[in-house]
Amino acid sequence: MEDTFRRQINYLRIAITDRCNLRCRYCMPATGVTLKSHQEILRLEEIVTLARVAGDAGISRIRLTGGEPLVRKNMVTLVRELASLSAIKELSLTTNGIFLSGLARPLKDAGLSRVNISLDTLRKDRYRYITRRGNINSVWQGIRAALAVGLAPVKLNVVITRGFNDDEVLDFARLAREEPLHIRFIELMPIGAAAATVTDYVAVEEIKSRVSSVYPLEPLPDLVTNGPAVNFKIAGGRGSIGFISAMSSHFCHRCNRLRLTADGKLRPCLYWDGEIDIKGPLRSGASSAELAAIFARAVALKPAEHHMETGWRQPRVMSQIGG
Ligand code: 5AD
Ligand code: SF4
Repeated sequence: MEDTFRRQINYLRIAITDRCNLRCRYCMPATGVTLKSHQEILRLEEIVTLARVAGDAGISRIRLTGGEPLVRKNMVTLVRELASLSAIKELSLTTNGIFLSGLARPLKDAGLSRVNISLDTLRKDRYRYITRRGNINSVWQGIRAALAVGLAPVKLNVVITRGFNDDEVLDFARLAREEPLHIRFIELMPIGAAAATVTDYVAVEEIKSRVSSVYPLEPLPDLVTNGPAVNFKIAGGRGSIGFISAMSSHFCHRCNRLRLTADGKLRPCLYWDGEIDIKGPLRSGASSAELAAIFARAVALKPAEHHMETGWRQPRVMSQIGG
């Protein structure tokens, strides 16, 4: 599917739940966010139907997000069904990793291609603080399991926050040198609980210059990727490093994605609050052609770029949109 700015849209991010077992400080308030009722959330077979229509319309890569996708019951079955769609060439998952150790093998066997795991700190006490409840040892078990079963490349998402973990940049870089992990440094975006941080993100240029002053970086254009990261290999290392400049430098001109929220709305852009209901038509019996037309409408509505540098004006937070 081509949008009005001649971008090829072939990547769909599906939030399969708005629930999460953690409460990361920049994402959610301590009390959590208002959750949608069971009936409002897409059923698994509805997700499969929409993915099939999307695949026929030109989507070839799908990522499952949340909330935390591994808290959704029967999600391994969902992965099996999505992986068996002939149009879908790659099926990946973004998770906080807490429940991954027991699920890595079943997910791999069900046809999952790879995982991104969110891990903002390497220190146990800081992990407990930033997630308000998580145990970092569980995440490490998840990372080890993902590596062991070959959900590769295993990528770690690291959101850098000034004054919290900006002193760990070199520790993460060392991890990328010693382990076959791809570390992605992400600029904090002013979304949800982080909305007030708009002027205080750590620009990836700053992170990159700190890393490259110690570990020489070599461009790595061919890493399996759907998106916005600019990637490097650490000279002589096992892993690699990516930088996602969501704020400091727009990559909107390369945007290839649509989002489907857990409650069945298509979002043409993370930033933009326009949403197109697809659950309503699906439940009232729309044909595949009618559903495909709704995907096409969402693609046609993709804006040229986001304007997050001027703030965030919408009620939804990341766990409701789907990271
Ligand atoms: N800015 C940047 N990244 C965020 N995430 C959640 N909220 C924000 C934000 N405000 C990240 C999580 C996870 C991914 C799905 O999105 O850390 O890695
Ligand atoms: Fe959960 Fe991810 Fe939000 Fe943390 S960032 S609370 S893991 S949805």
